[in-house]
Amino acid sequence: MPTIVIASPKGGAGKSTTAIVLATELAHAGARVTLLDCDPNRSLSLWAGRAAVPHRIEVLSDIGEAEIVRTIKRHDQDGQIVIVDLEGVASRLVSRAISQADLVITPMRATTLDATVGVRALQLIQEEEEALDRRIPHAVVFTMTKAIRSKQHSGIEASLRDQGVALLEPPLMERAAFSALFEFGGDLRNMPPQGNMDAAIRNAEDFARAVYARMTEDA
Ligand SMILES: Nc1ncnc2c1ncn2[C@@H]1O[C@H](COP(=O)(O)OP(=O)(O)OP(=O)(O)O)[C@@H](O)[C@H]1O
Ligand SMILES: [Mg+2]
Repeated sequence: MPTIVIASPKGGAGKSTTAIVLATELAHAGARVTLLDCDPNRSLSLWAGRAAVPHRIEVLSDIGEAEIVRTIKRHDQDGQIVIVDLEGVASRLVSRAISQADLVITPMRATTLDATVGVRALQLIQEEEEALDRRIPHAVVFTMTKAIRSKQHSGIEASLRDQGVALLEPPLMERAAFSALFEFGGDLRNMPPQGNMDAAIRNAEDFARAVYARMTEDA
């Protein structure tokens, strides 16, 4: 079963949020998910400590560069989806995780600065592709997207498409419920209502479906 690596050297791009939203939606849909917290800042472990970890999700913390490949291989078994959350840096740990990926997702806020730093993730993926002589499927997802799309957003989207970068649709919208995941733990369905909960859940479901479709497409 697939390993999905969430990677961007840009801090605060929405990596950990994307990892949790994806894990909780896939688990809700019936999948068994292993979340690997490879960030020394331990965002996923913080989330996991806030409330009971949702059914079918296991979180492993403090995975470093020495054990990342082994840990992914051990958990990447039948019926299991591995999701790897990384620090916002370019490092050997990040490259090693990417080398094991069936899909790399790069979350990105649609601002010029974020896109400029974020596309460096694509260079890291390319380097691993060259080293391993295999294609590593990857896609960008826009995060913290506002309901009214800015010109900057449209421009960045057009530029990525011109470069042949795959975009996951829908983007993850800016929603109180998504940031509240770190406050309450658990998933969107068990959280005290935050803003437009139905819209947040629909957004999360549609995003997870898009990821699932891309994994099966690229398999
Ligand atoms: N879609 C969203 N809607 C609202 N808030 C969001 C959304 N995505 C992320 N955030 C908030 O933005 C901040 C950064 O998000 P997150 O921690 O997921 O990014 P990150 O890329 O994992 O950061 P780091 O590089 O530090 O690991 C957090 O406070 C998070 O709650
Ligand atoms: Mg993070």
